[in-house]
Amino acid sequence: MHAAVVTSFDALPKYVEYPEPVAHGGDEVVVEVLAAGLHPRVRSQADGSHYTSTDELPLVPGIDGVVRDPKGRIRYTVLDDTVLGTMAERTVIDLDRSVVLPDGIDPVQIAAAMNPAMSSWVALRRRVDFRRRQRVLILGATGNAGRMAIQVAKRFGAAHVIAAGRDTARLLGLRALGADETCTFDELTKAADVDVVIDYVWGEPTARAMADMLTARADRGASLTWIQIGSVAGPTAPIPSAALRSARLQIIGSGIGSVPGRDFVKELPKLASAVADGAFDVRARAVPLAEVEQAWTATAGTPDRIVFVP
Ligand SMILES: NC(=O)c1ccc[n+]([C@@H]2O[C@H](COP(=O)([O-])OP(=O)(O)OC[C@H]3O[C@@H](n4cnc5c(N)ncnc54)[C@H](OP(=O)(O)O)[C@@H]3O)[C@@H](O)[C@H]2O)c1
Repeated sequence: MHAAVVTSFDALPKYVEYPEPVAHGGDEVVVEVLAAGLHPRVRSQADGSHYTSTDELPLVPGIDGVVRDPKGRIRYTVLDDTVLGTMAERTVIDLDRSVVLPDGIDPVQIAAAMNPAMSSWVALRRRVDFRRRQRVLILGATGNAGRMAIQVAKRFGAAHVIAAGRDTARLLGLRALGADETCTFDELTKAADVDVVIDYVWGEPTARAMADMLTARADRGASLTWIQIGSVAGPTAPIPSAALRSARLQIIGSGIGSVPGRDFVKELPKLASAVADGAFDVRARAVPLAEVEQAWTATAGTPDRIVFVP
C-alpha cells in the first residue's frame, strides 16, 4: 500500500510504498482510511517535537481519521501512540477507540472537525463543572479549535462568549459563529469578569492577558478557571506568583493525560453526531494523500483544516 512516511524528523513526509498493516488480536482490526486531518498535533508528531514523541522512525503520521471497517461500517477513530498513523491507505485501529458514524456523513468534514472540536468539548465536559449561563473567554479564537470552542461553549449554554485573537480581520467573522464580543489581546480587560478561559495561546501573551484581566476583575473572590489547551505562542508562560494569590484563579489543562483516554472516547459519539448533524461550521479542504509532501508546507497557516484523502 501507499502511505505518508517520515524517515527523518528534519524532512517532510513522503508518499511511498509501505508494508501492509497487520492487526494483533484483541479489538484491533485493519481498516481502509477515508480521510485524515493534518492537525497541529500531527505536524508536531511528524517533526518529533510533540511531548509524546518516542523518536521511533520510520513513522506514518496521523492521530485520527474516518475509516471503513472490515464489515463496511464507517467509523471515526482516534489512535493510541503508534508509528502507523492514519495517513496511509490502510491502518490498524482499536475498535474500542472508535465510533460508528451515521450513514451519509462526509468523511472529510468529520476528519476536519473532530480534533479541534474535541478540545473545548472535552475541556468543558470533563475538566470543569461548566454550568449554563457562565461567561467564557476564548484566547486564540481565530484558529480551527478556537472557532469550534465558540460554538461548543454556546451549545453548552454559555451566557456570553468573548473571542480574542491577534488578527482583526479574522476576528470579524467570529460573531457569525456565536461570539457575543471579539477583541484583540490588547483589549482583554473587557473580558476581566469571565468565569472560564479556554486558552490555545499560552506563552507571553497569556501571562500578559492574565495580569491585565486579574487587575481589572470586579470581584477577585469570584472563581476564574483558566483551561490551558494549546500553546501556539510558546510552551512556557511567565505567570506572576501574585496572580495566584490575588484572585480566585485556578489554572488547569485539558488534553490526553489530564483527561484519561477512555473519557475522551466516551465523548466521541455525541460529538460525532453533532458534527454529522451539521451543528458546527467546519472549514475543511480535501487534498489527495499522494500530494502530502507539497501540501505539508504549502498549507501551513491556511485557515482551512487540510484533510488527506488516500
Ligand atoms: N489539548 C487538546 O485536546 C487539543 C486539541 C486540539 C488542538 N489543540 C491545540 O490547540 C492549538 C490550536 O489548534 P488549532 O487546530 O486551532 O490550530 P490552527 O487552526 O492552526 O490555528 C492556530 C491559531 O493559533 C493562532 N496563533 C498562531 N501563532 C500565534 C501566536 N504567536 N500568537 C497568537 N496566536 C497565534 C492563530 O492565529 P491567527 O488566526 O492570527 O493566525 C490561530 O488562531 C494547537 O496548539 C493545538 O495543538 C489541543
